Amino acid sequence: MSIVSISITGEKIKSQGDLFGVFFEDLNHAADGGLYGELLRNGSFEFEEIDHAGYTSLTAWECVGTDRSFVRAHVEYDQPRNTKKPHYLKMEVLSSGGAGIRNMGYGDGIFCKKQETYRFSCFAKKRRGTLKLSVRLEDRFSGDVLAESEIEVTGDSWKAYHCLLEANADCHCACLAVRACKADVVEIDDLSLFPVNTYRTRNNGLRKDIAEMIEAMHPRFMRFPGGCLTHIGSLDAADRCAMYRWKNTLGEVADRPSKRNNWNYNQSLGLGFFEFFLFCEDMKAEPLPAIAAGYDPHNLRMASLEDMQEWIDEALDLIEFANGPVTSKWGKIRAQMGHPESFHLKYLEIGNEEVGDGYFVRYDMIQKAVREKHPEIVLINSAGPGSGGSEFRKGWMQAREGKADLSDEHFYQCPEWFVANTDRYENYPPYPKVFLGEYGSQDDTWKNALSEAVFMTALEKAESVGMACYAPLLCNTDYTNWRPDLLYFKNDQVYGSPSYYVQKLFMNYQGEFLVGADDDMIPEKRERVKLGGSVVFRTEKAAVEIRDFEVRGFSSNEVLLKKDLIDLSPERSIISCGEVQETDYRILFSFCRRNGTVEEHLEGLSWFEVDFARRDDEHSLAWRMDGWQRMSYLNGIICGKTCDLGLEFFSSEIGRLYKAEIQVRGNEVVTYIDGQQLHRHDCKSWKPQPLYYSVVKDAEDHYICKLVNVTDKDQQVRILLPQGTDCKEAVIEYMDGYLPDERNSYEDPQKVIPRMKKMAVSGGEIIYRSKAYSIGVIRFR
Ligand code: AHR
Repeated sequence: MSIVSISITGEKIKSQGDLFGVFFEDLNHAADGGLYGELLRNGSFEFEEIDHAGYTSLTAWECVGTDRSFVRAHVEYDQPRNTKKPHYLKMEVLSSGGAGIRNMGYGDGIFCKKQETYRFSCFAKKRRGTLKLSVRLEDRFSGDVLAESEIEVTGDSWKAYHCLLEANADCHCACLAVRACKADVVEIDDLSLFPVNTYRTRNNGLRKDIAEMIEAMHPRFMRFPGGCLTHIGSLDAADRCAMYRWKNTLGEVADRPSKRNNWNYNQSLGLGFFEFFLFCEDMKAEPLPAIAAGYDPHNLRMASLEDMQEWIDEALDLIEFANGPVTSKWGKIRAQMGHPESFHLKYLEIGNEEVGDGYFVRYDMIQKAVREKHPEIVLINSAGPGSGGSEFRKGWMQAREGKADLSDEHFYQCPEWFVANTDRYENYPPYPKVFLGEYGSQDDTWKNALSEAVFMTALEKAESVGMACYAPLLCNTDYTNWRPDLLYFKNDQVYGSPSYYVQKLFMNYQGEFLVGADDDMIPEKRERVKLGGSVVFRTEKAAVEIRDFEVRGFSSNEVLLKKDLIDLSPERSIISCGEVQETDYRILFSFCRRNGTVEEHLEGLSWFEVDFARRDDEHSLAWRMDGWQRMSYLNGIICGKTCDLGLEFFSSEIGRLYKAEIQVRGNEVVTYIDGQQLHRHDCKSWKPQPLYYSVVKDAEDHYICKLVNVTDKDQQVRILLPQGTDCKEAVIEYMDGYLPDERNSYEDPQKVIPRMKKMAVSGGEIIYRSKAYSIGVIRFR
């Protein structure tokens, strides 16, 4: 077996700053039913069909009694406690047998633990007299009483009621029942149940097990409240479908308006900006809020330029809310919420995956105002939704014209892409810096985590990369919108994916400085990738006429394939045009789209593409027209997973004839529409190096060397320590012995996790066997 030698020079090359952090988005019920500690679902009866098909204001509620007919529960809104949340429940109990209502919580039911205390609260009123309500935690199936208490409602104006419930047993499927002791009528609203034992035992706090798993990563920052969530929606903050407006998330929870979450559910906003800031403070992570620029590219909604002050104020007021003195308008609100001290907000992102010039002009206006008033704030703009292409270039151009300190790139790629692109940031200028605000490798196996680890060693080494966070973070598996995620949970369990443990390793061992190191690996010769293969047209709902299809040899101009007319339609959605053996060739055709709506173009629901260099269903290149967000995509399909090779702003007009061309020459693919170049991409070989590594130094002067082996062979490594290092022992945290397709699960949550060992060191060098498919983090001084 050959040996790779790594010599550590010890020279400090760059500060690692706030390099690795986390990205919280309220999707997959990450907030309500997730990180937010509230155990009741729809406690304010505000769920509506508009949030999610099938919701009603009684979703998650049931009537209970000796017989269901003994209680009538109707949701009313003529005398609300708060007009922003107009619904409340009128409970008419018609028998004396203790009928009432019960809330089933999220998923299979509320998880309660023996001897834990739960805090119940609600608002209630009744016309005449008083009424005792029993409040119980019960097993939803057996009806066993797990905890019981009582409140007494009196008076015909809304009043707050509280009680504590201590569980006498564990139960994984509990519900909360509220019963009247006699026949009577009561109005009740904003029911809430929290464990007392939240993260840091805060009121209105976070679910402890999830919050602690996040904290255990030691993220340097947290981006919140989401990506698409921040800018999809209407412009009017009072709308149910408004873009995420942080001002709606302040104050008493019961007074926060209920919203439609664009991930197709209801959002209580109980976990709001104040709570996000607190969580960041508790974890010692820098808060990194992202707010909209008054522009929604998904629905082509934008504030007029005359109305931009409202959106400028969103940014300025947010800075004041986080950092301003208690005498300022927004600083006072922060103090009233219990935090007179500043939250020391340093970073602010405006926008997310923006597409279209409307964003750039609005971003400029906001950043000008922020720079004038708060030059200390580090501003982040958006570099679009892909790894390259038109919006990516515009975002970077804007940043480089001095308009942003960091530019936010996003990409979700296959593992091979991450391994093949470790040189991505090598030639970026050192400033403005990259904020890799969302990335992930499309699944949650050990292979995925390894590929991300490889890429993270490159993020550590690149001078141009300022910050990076994997996406998304959380998933309640009873309500999945998006996989993969770092942490999966249901009511009674949470586990981390292998990617979670990789992120945790990189954050726990981020270090403060990148340290110089050299190796004797011979760089893989840049392999010529062979881009021959079959050519296939495919469509999803699009009807397209393809004319004059030809494939010609690049230099010979010889016609290799030819068809006069191809009618692509939803009924004939795959049309094969033959095989190209050559590796340098041109694909020429004209196309005319026959159907499609603006909405379909925006959502990318109806597209067509030409697949080329196609070896099989799992390996191909694809040029897709009319993809998501009115973009033309150049995609690579590797081992059945897709990666974007560039997104260009282009969507076809119905009835217009376009001339298209793809030039394949060696590793390079260039596409043209009507003679204008669209994509240019240099395809890379995915053959991995024998080893990937980085070396950093932490605040206690330890060296930390991370080694990632993505090959199927063990690799002997010799680490030559810097001169003068008298090291006797190294501590190694490592992950090895797993097959690439292994993953964690509820049944086996710790299948793929790091372990620790120590190793004696002498003679100024460490000899380490980096096993096949492994990560080793070696710490010594
Ligand atoms: O992380 C999930 C989503 O992916 C984000 O909301 C969005 O920014 C991206 O498209």
